[in-house]
Amino acid sequence: MLLLQLVLLTVLVPGGDSDDDFQEPITFRIILTSSFYNRARTQNQGSAWLGQLQTHGWDSKTGAFIFLRPWSRGNFSNEKFMELEKLFYSYSIRFLQVFQDHVSQWQLEYPFQVQLEGGCELHLGEASVGFVEIAYQGSDLMSFQNTSWWPSPKGGRRTEEVCTLFNRFYVINEIIHTLFSDTCPQFLLGLLDAGKAYLKRQVRPEAWLSSGSSPGPGRLLLVCHVSGFYPKPVWVTWMRGEQEHQGTRRGEVLPHADGTWYLQTSLDVEAREAAGLSCRVRHSSLEGQDIVLYWEQHRPVGLVFLAVIVPLVLLAGLAFWLWKRW
Ligand SMILES: *[C@@H]1O[C@H](CO)[C@@H](O)[C@H](O)[C@H]1NC(C)=O
Ligand SMILES: *[C@@H]1O[C@H](CO)[C@@H](O)[C@H](O)[C@H]1NC(C)=O
Repeated sequence: MLLLQLVLLTVLVPGGDSDDDFQEPITFRIILTSSFYNRARTQNQGSAWLGQLQTHGWDSKTGAFIFLRPWSRGNFSNEKFMELEKLFYSYSIRFLQVFQDHVSQWQLEYPFQVQLEGGCELHLGEASVGFVEIAYQGSDLMSFQNTSWWPSPKGGRRTEEVCTLFNRFYVINEIIHTLFSDTCPQFLLGLLDAGKAYLKRQVRPEAWLSSGSSPGPGRLLLVCHVSGFYPKPVWVTWMRGEQEHQGTRRGEVLPHADGTWYLQTSLDVEAREAAGLSCRVRHSSLEGQDIVLYWEQHRPVGLVFLAVIVPLVLLAGLAFWLWKRW
């Protein structure tokens, strides 16, 4: 389930991995993934996310929300959640049914997946923006604007038909509109407030160096690992003296299960040029005290090799020699 969501997130979240997450609008979204295996077997999976942090799970059998954080209720009452649970549950069943009923008409082929993503985005100092999108097999199918469904430009003929049908559900579309334009931003504000301490925490990274598999004869791949930091924005680069090394290759910032982040930054250099290089890490938790790791201090691989392997080989040679002489 998590994998699906991650895949979906990367597909649906534009620019989810930029370096300036600080400016990024704050988004709350729910994701519903409906899997259709055959005529008789379907499955719904749902979750809710604050930015890239999962805040809610969902038991699709009972329709109950699963509150993953102590602050996942924001400022909504139990009654409000029960009302929303009922709404999501009946909508999710209906959603499955609509697609099951039109498999041949819309030329859908088992097994397939339909994903719905809906949420709201807060831009500081501006009105919030609600959005709902539906994708079929990972491609945009249609999106919801101003109480109507609009076909995605690349969706083809099938999309027009799906939209026409969905646009007949006036009552549901009114509810969807209210949900994502009014309820969602209210909930998001309450959630941000309830989770403030957690969301604004600062966790210092650990950093270490290693060498990757050699890129070629006489070359070294220097790798700088930065792990366990929060929030996500971080600046990591290889330096020669005070100069940033242009060859720095930044990996993707990857999530740890505990909500902190990991980043690996590598540099491919001539082995004899490695001395004097350093990896520099700047992060808000370090309060201006960058972490700087020098490559010289780190030459354990060669030394360990010499210290362990060479005596072993000598011992083996000695043993062999003794055995022959016996
Ligand atoms: C949205 O719908 C309302 C009422 O149906 C209309 O007054 C408004 O102009 C529409 N807005 C856009 C951007 O289409
Ligand atoms: C929750 O907080 C938000 C923002 O402060 C507010 O707009 C909303 O009305 C509150 N909702 C409830 C149910 O108290």
